[in-house]
Amino acid sequence: MSAADKKNVPPTDTERRRVLRLLGKGSVVAAFAAQIGAAARAFFPNVLYEPPTKFKLKRPEEYPPGFTFDAAHRLFVVREEDAFHVISAVCTHLGCTVQWRENEFDCPCHGSRFRPNGSVISGPAPRPLSWFDTRLSPDGFLEVDSAVDVAPGFRFVPPKGQA
Ligand code: FES
Repeated sequence: MSAADKKNVPPTDTERRRVLRLLGKGSVVAAFAAQIGAAARAFFPNVLYEPPTKFKLKRPEEYPPGFTFDAAHRLFVVREEDAFHVISAVCTHLGCTVQWRENEFDCPCHGSRFRPNGSVISGPAPRPLSWFDTRLSPDGFLEVDSAVDVAPGFRFVPPKGQA
């Protein structure tokens, strides 16, 4: 039989079985590889990146007396002479940003009102606004840790010459 004749000969059952066997084995190998890949993916869990809870604000001397809103961190820096404290601007009802109005914080979402010390005047807010731990960073900036609450009445007084 010449080479030209072999091309025109239909595949035999043996050849078909060999092709089907190869396809079957390939499928098993592909499924196995997919399982190994999925198992290996478990070693690299999804990570939820949240903003750091400890951050720097401005230098103490840059804050005027009274309440200064920091929109980036959703908080108020309160300066009373040389003493500072930081109150969260996040409403304890559903997390809207409260606004400082004359002599109280008002929540624009559902109408909660808070005293200047963060305690609730009227709900639906269930808890007072948080007070955050405040100190001075080594390079002279106010530093806040929003993961650490301090008792209302806390005051931070920077060393002389820093406010
Ligand atoms: S979120 Fe402030 S009162 Fe509802």
